[in-house]
Amino acid sequence: MTEGQNARKEEGKPKKRKEQKPYGGKDLGLRFKDKGRDLKETVAYKNGEWMPKSQVTIELGDRGFYLGDAVFDLFRTFDGRPFRIKDHIDRFFRSAQFARLDPGFTPDELTALTLECVERNEQLRSEFGDWSVWFSVTRGLAGWRTLDAKPTFVVYAGEVPFYTFADQYADGASAVITRSRNHTHQSLDPKVKHTSRMHLNLSDLEARDVDPTAWPIMLDMEGNIAEGSGSNVFVVSGSSIKTPSDATILRGVTRDVVIELSDQLGIPLSEEAIQPYDVYTADEVFFTSTPFSVLPVTSVDRREIGDGRPGPIATRLLAAFSELAGIDIVDQAQRYKDARSDN
Ligand SMILES: Cc1ncc(COP(=O)(O)O)c(C=O)c1O
Repeated sequence: MTEGQNARKEEGKPKKRKEQKPYGGKDLGLRFKDKGRDLKETVAYKNGEWMPKSQVTIELGDRGFYLGDAVFDLFRTFDGRPFRIKDHIDRFFRSAQFARLDPGFTPDELTALTLECVERNEQLRSEFGDWSVWFSVTRGLAGWRTLDAKPTFVVYAGEVPFYTFADQYADGASAVITRSRNHTHQSLDPKVKHTSRMHLNLSDLEARDVDPTAWPIMLDMEGNIAEGSGSNVFVVSGSSIKTPSDATILRGVTRDVVIELSDQLGIPLSEEAIQPYDVYTADEVFFTSTPFSVLPVTSVDRREIGDGRPGPIATRLLAAFSELAGIDIVDQAQRYKDARSDN
């Protein structure tokens, strides 16, 4: 039989359907031992391919690695349901636009990809409680002055680090106003969620020098309260709430939710300049952030805030947040605080 006849014979045959295996045929959801700990492997996406997260590599020559030339965002799930995914994706695209980075996707495509990440890792969720779903784009492999690189794009599911805050819902967190200042919009606009986070890291270390469990609060260049290293700051005086305007902060998605909830609960809230004075003399202080939603702060610079216990407004907001998320946020954090993933 000639080659052509062979080909025609093949054409006539019904095509054997390729077996659809999850994770592109790779057997993920792996378990492996590390220093006696039983770890679980989540699945991640890099530049068009799904793979076990431990196999995702970023090359040394990637500008995201050696220059911090990257933007990112993350949302969390509540009982596996993504929360405010659109807000996080929209912020990611604004960050990328500002940094002149091209994620290579439309917002709808990225939404589908992050939802796929949640779905592919669903089998492991019961062990961790929920996911933080991260997505980052770097300018890719290129030299210091060459900018025509192909971006590196990753999506992955990480833990919600319950162990870092679970006990602080009831006990109250402690905070330290640090000497490291936040960037201003005149230098690197804090509205951009970028990976050039050294000032945030240093501020974190400073806070921990004072108290190993403390969270930092950074000031802006005018000495006004700006934000935490991964959170926004709110103060309560009497029955009203104040939070810094978005001039010198990342506009937190959780912050927006709390603004909406305050409105629904009839609690007056204003966005205005706040000084350390307002923090030290407040009845309540609290942080907002994606992993913990609302976290009461009961000491700042070792000074007691209010009566030193989580206050009624933070407690009400947290309850309203739980209702919105469809889960008891505090109870879940307590239940899963010992769960640790491989990230
Ligand atoms: C610097 C900074 N501020 C505030 C926040 C809180 O933002 P969100 O509520 O969207 O998590 C974050 C989140 O990581 C952050 O990095």
